[in-house]
Amino acid sequence: MDGLLLDWYGRTARDLPWRHTRDPYAILVSEVMLQQTQVDRVVPRWIAWLERWPTPADLAAASPADVIRAWQGLGYNRRGLSLHRAAQQIAADGWPADLTDLPGVGPYTAAAVRNFALGEDVLPIDVNVERIQERSGHRFGSACGQALMDLGATVCLARVPRCELCPLAQGCPSRGQRYEPARKQSRFEGSFRQRRSAALRLVAEQPRALAELDAEAVAALEKDALVRVCDGIVSLPE
Ligand code: ADE
Repeated sequence: MDGLLLDWYGRTARDLPWRHTRDPYAILVSEVMLQQTQVDRVVPRWIAWLERWPTPADLAAASPADVIRAWQGLGYNRRGLSLHRAAQQIAADGWPADLTDLPGVGPYTAAAVRNFALGEDVLPIDVNVERIQERSGHRFGSACGQALMDLGATVCLARVPRCELCPLAQGCPSRGQRYEPARKQSRFEGSFRQRRSAALRLVAEQPRALAELDAEAVAALEKDALVRVCDGIVSLPE
């Protein structure tokens, strides 16, 4: 089955810029960005990020304020700060043997860096890969990581899989099945997350008086070290 998938990938692979590097830092940046944001939106941001901060040491030397500004629009701003702290740790101590020792790096991201950058024999399993393994009843080898990302994103879709395009359809026990909508992703519009994001956007433009901002949102941002409040003025951490 791996062979069929890899043949298909050889013919159809998406040309994504992080597929042209084995730099663990560049891969780490891509995976952290891709955790919450669509591939198309990540591509230009990833390129710009690596132009600005090509190494962990470059990122480590940036101020949190610059990192927060550069992360705007990628969602879940804490991830940007975690990436910054990870870069500081790498710049100071080198890469840890266990990558999950880095801030913001869980088992999936660790496996992705080990596979895509270091060529290690571990398959990174995210929700897409898990779905494909479940439907096909097959455990894929570690060479299939990138191919599975593409299959999950373009063919083996969550609700209405496009089995007519699937290289694994013959012999797939789930061929032709349809699936209920998964848990609805909680709406961003009108959410507390949106309020936080709006407040952070204002503060990222310039320091603002607390009195002119959403105080609850600012309190949550302050708790995550995304802003600081001093004498009634809210600013980014420099
Ligand atoms: N989603 C998470 N990691 C990815 C990758 N390396 N390529 C495409 N989509 C992804």
